[in-house]
Amino acid sequence: MKIGSVDLPSPFAIAPMAGMTDTAFRRLVKRHGGCGLVVTEMVSAEGLVRGIDRTLEYAEYTEEERPIAIQIFGGDPEKMAAAAQIVEGMGADIVDVNMGCPVPKIAKHNAGCSLMREPEHAATVIRAMSKAVRIPVTVKMRAGWNDEDRNAPQLAKMVQDAGAAAIAVHGRTAAQSYSGSADWDLVSRIAGDLTIPVFGSGDCVEPEQIVLRMRSGVEGVLVGRGVLRNPWILAQAADLAAGLTPREVTLEDRGRFLLDYIDKLLTERVREPEGFRHGVDVQISRPGSSQHRWVINKIRALGSWYTKGLENGSHLRTAINGADSLESLRELITTFFFATVLLPSA
Ligand SMILES: Cc1cc2nc3c(=O)[nH]c(=O)nc-3n(C[C@H](O)[C@H](O)[C@H](O)COP(=O)(O)O)c2cc1C
Repeated sequence: MKIGSVDLPSPFAIAPMAGMTDTAFRRLVKRHGGCGLVVTEMVSAEGLVRGIDRTLEYAEYTEEERPIAIQIFGGDPEKMAAAAQIVEGMGADIVDVNMGCPVPKIAKHNAGCSLMREPEHAATVIRAMSKAVRIPVTVKMRAGWNDEDRNAPQLAKMVQDAGAAAIAVHGRTAAQSYSGSADWDLVSRIAGDLTIPVFGSGDCVEPEQIVLRMRSGVEGVLVGRGVLRNPWILAQAADLAAGLTPREVTLEDRGRFLLDYIDKLLTERVREPEGFRHGVDVQISRPGSSQHRWVINKIRALGSWYTKGLENGSHLRTAINGADSLESLRELITTFFFATVLLPSA
């Protein structure tokens, strides 16, 4: 499938997830195959325009992640257009607009899902961006602001007319946040109404569900929490879609993923008080340094999803939350995931 002129090798994608889908994580997921598109965590348009280091960090990606969409949030058409140009200048394949974030910190600045409450203005933002860049502009929205205002079908058409090259719909309202379930009937209706590709998002935690959702008429599926629980889910969905048995994931595979994630975070980023720096020698990351603490926090955040559904997962989760050094974190991961392998055979 294609978004504008960008070819996607698979219709399955990693949904943008703030705090979770950093470049290291995206690369580790992508390594398994089945992933047609990755999207960065949401990045502030204001921060991009002002050139704030920390914001630029969130927009980082590597070549192996292509095709890559950088997701931005903001509400001012001119700033969003300027931010889109920066994204284009950074070499991203697609610039995506966040119209789904329900968090008050974002929504109160007329960004995120609050743009859905002002559809004309939202369309103006997309028009300004589409005029400013050659790369495709895409939109990720929710079903609407609340149950009385489920206007995604109307807004979807408006942003299509304003120049959007594709949209993604998470079938919940902002008021729902993550409660209830995603309305895939609504997603399906929107997919039937639009001429641009529509991605659906919501509640796919098993590879079978992803393949099933493709039958709703969408051109692709964005998977969020399912990838945090099982980074192989897109590859397994691709196996299923190809008529194959989904690949097996062993406990050791799962342990290796976490250890690789720690290594990637450590070698590729060094967090310093004023921001992040790239390419700094790993030697300077001392135990107890702010970089180590940052990595520990990242593993804790992932751990809360990753351990779900695992036998004794809640014990592992508690242990991860209690670990205060990378050494102890590595040790407990090794013990949990590899212990049975290391036991001598009887
Ligand atoms: C921790 C977390 C962070 C998220 N951050 C973003 C974000 O930055 N931008 C965005 O458009 N959606 C964000 N989402 C929403 C997801 O992209 C996705 O649409 C939603 O979780 C529903 O899909 P799922 O059931 O597969 O998780 C986030 C979701 C979670 C769970």
